Amino acid sequence: MTPPVVSVEDPDTHLYGTRCFMTQANAATPTNVMLSAIQPTSQLTLGNYLGAIQNWVQLQDKYNCYFFAVDQHAITVRQNPEALRQATLTALATYVAAGVDPQRSTLFVQSHVPEHTQLCWILNCYSYMGELNRMTQYKDKSAKSGENIPAGLFTYPVLMAADILLYDAKLVPVGQDQKQHVELTRNLAQRLNNLYGDHLFVIPDCYIGSKAAKVMDLQQPTRKMSKSAENTMGTLFLMDDEKTILKKFKKAVTDSDTVIEWDKERKPGVANLIEIQSAITHTSPEEIVHNYTGKMYGHLKVETAEIVLQTLRPLQQKVHQLMEERTELEKILRHGAEKAREHAATTLKRVHDAVGFYT
Ligand code: TRP
Repeated sequence: MTPPVVSVEDPDTHLYGTRCFMTQANAATPTNVMLSAIQPTSQLTLGNYLGAIQNWVQLQDKYNCYFFAVDQHAITVRQNPEALRQATLTALATYVAAGVDPQRSTLFVQSHVPEHTQLCWILNCYSYMGELNRMTQYKDKSAKSGENIPAGLFTYPVLMAADILLYDAKLVPVGQDQKQHVELTRNLAQRLNNLYGDHLFVIPDCYIGSKAAKVMDLQQPTRKMSKSAENTMGTLFLMDDEKTILKKFKKAVTDSDTVIEWDKERKPGVANLIEIQSAITHTSPEEIVHNYTGKMYGHLKVETAEIVLQTLRPLQQKVHQLMEERTELEKILRHGAEKAREHAATTLKRVHDAVGFYT
């Protein structure tokens, strides 16, 4: 009996590239890779710490983690070069100071691993203008760019897809604002898998940690705390000094009532302070409210500042130490990039073979 003939040249058959995959030893298999990254566009905030980094520390027991600073994403809007360099190093130092273990997790700088942009180019060729145009972050950021919108802002999510797919990541802990980008990553991965075989890419999922805190702006408590807010009084930077931290909490916007209750709708400012305490002390908001019976907003503000300071003091000390004796941090970064490249190169080779590059 003659075997059925499959046309490998026909882009519309989903068997297009199956042939080359059958012979690929390193095809992607289900993994327990977790991967996340932060843009070093300015200093990191309490929101980054309580909403992301603090949780990464727990997750490294369960997953094979990759955490990095995305300096290439950062330049989609103009950066001061020296500030970017400094913020990149400080971000990595903060991960380590917060307890991310460089022995277990892979910590690195995105631009140290050239495979990110290499895969990004390929994915660009499979991304549609229409789908990139629908990204809400692009719409927001391009609206602020005036007439000259950098093309990098448009293809930003494709680079993020490359970040994720290179490491066969299964889980990606991100905030609400990045979900759409992970969704695009899934679509791209699926699109290439349909063309070239299911073993090309692992399809990632968003990981929404139940414990991840969403820290709100101290001045506009219905908005998420952001590195780039115009009024920095609402943003608590991890490296703020004690006086500034105390001042920002004392001036935190609450409401004209006096009773301390945990009600995000009616009392977003108060609820934010309670939740910050809760995220740090791992005490439930109900219990915190109970402890404040009969007390005033002033107590809540100052005590929240003190609790934050207790966590930030040792963190800041460790960050300063790592930044001063640069050798340890350097070693961590270089070693991290090497480990990352091993994985990234394997994936990129698989993709090169699939799309028809002569390797
Ligand atoms: N775009 C993300 C943000 O601004 C940062 C990011 C880049 C990222 N690459 C990533 C997050 C990969 C998770 C996975 O928050």
